[in-house]
Amino acid sequence: MQYRKLGNSDLTVSVVALGTWGLGGGSVWSDHDSTEREANDLLSACRDHGINYIDTAPVYGTGESERLLGEALKGRRHDFVVQTKCSLNWRGEGGNFHYSRDGYTVNNDTRPAAIVRDVEDSLRRMQTDYLDSVVVHYVCKSFPVADTVEALERLREQGKIRAYGLSNSQPADLADYQRCGGHVSVVQEFFSILSPFHGRAYFEACAPHGTTFQTYGVLEEGFLTSPAFPERTFGKADIRSRIPWSQEPYRTGLRKAFEAWEPVREAHRCSFSALFEAWALAQYENMSLLVGMRRPETVRDTASCLDVHLSSEELAFLEDAVKSIQVEVLDK
Ligand SMILES: NC(=O)c1ccc[n+]([C@@H]2O[C@H](COP(=O)([O-])OP(=O)(O)OC[C@H]3O[C@@H](n4cnc5c(N)ncnc54)[C@H](OP(=O)(O)O)[C@@H]3O)[C@@H](O)[C@H]2O)c1
Repeated sequence: MQYRKLGNSDLTVSVVALGTWGLGGGSVWSDHDSTEREANDLLSACRDHGINYIDTAPVYGTGESERLLGEALKGRRHDFVVQTKCSLNWRGEGGNFHYSRDGYTVNNDTRPAAIVRDVEDSLRRMQTDYLDSVVVHYVCKSFPVADTVEALERLREQGKIRAYGLSNSQPADLADYQRCGGHVSVVQEFFSILSPFHGRAYFEACAPHGTTFQTYGVLEEGFLTSPAFPERTFGKADIRSRIPWSQEPYRTGLRKAFEAWEPVREAHRCSFSALFEAWALAQYENMSLLVGMRRPETVRDTASCLDVHLSSEELAFLEDAVKSIQVEVLDK
């Protein structure tokens, strides 16, 4: 494993980070409900492969991902850098409507009282007295950024959080937070070989401040893991049924690309997942590779991406194969 500082904070994090959206189950991840035992084994696999950075959010499984992590972290909390999120909540106390799912209505609220309450709820669910990092899940124009920054800075001074970041944001949002005195350590944004545009625009904004760019979606919810994956079918509520890669013309484009990619994968004796993770890591120096994982085998394979070293010709070749089907960021 390789380790880096998280932005301007004093946290040292593994380059590969564990994403736990799927761990929370619920209708968007209807193929599997994780147990406490599985969550425990997942963290043990991360520890065995040197992964110390874990990402979750209150809304993943409406509290379930955080709860399972809290149980699995017992006795080894200090071995991990735990990042959760704030702003999306289902308390029914105002804010902007965000979505309704699994019987809950989720609102987006970045006002100070909501942020403080989010942090307190996460601390309780994860049975801990500090959060290493808290990411504003969806930046929001309705409420003053200066107030949100003040709340986050106060939580940092109080030692309840050690760093913070932004997600589902634009470079202009990062600039706004910084203008208001915010110490933004990390931005968590969609980035993959199929949707690279938003990330590329963001790298330039991150670089001068040493802000870590953390990817999600590098494997497009599994669609880049193997040629067989896009052939699967998913339930209507499953997030994966709404992704274009299982629909034309993208599906055929992806099929052809897998054929073109196969010799490169074979030459590196790695999985397709590791190939695209290595591709992503080569795009920006200060990148954190956040990958959703529920199984120890996935953790082992993901960690192996650091052993895949692609030449500049191979990097270009991999992307050229999907140039005609690349899309802008998908709103999920
Ligand atoms: N800020 C946001 O709005 C936002 C949005 C989306 C996600 N996220 C965060 O980012 C994390 C990562 O998101 P993501 O889109 O990359 O992943 P994801 O949607 O959470 O899931 C990735 C899928 O790919 C599979 N997979 C991963 N590595 C694999 C491998 N080597 N071989 C085979 N299958 C593999 C996983 O399998 P298994 O589950 O079976 O192990 C999982 O089903 C999320 O979990 C969440 O923490 C944040």
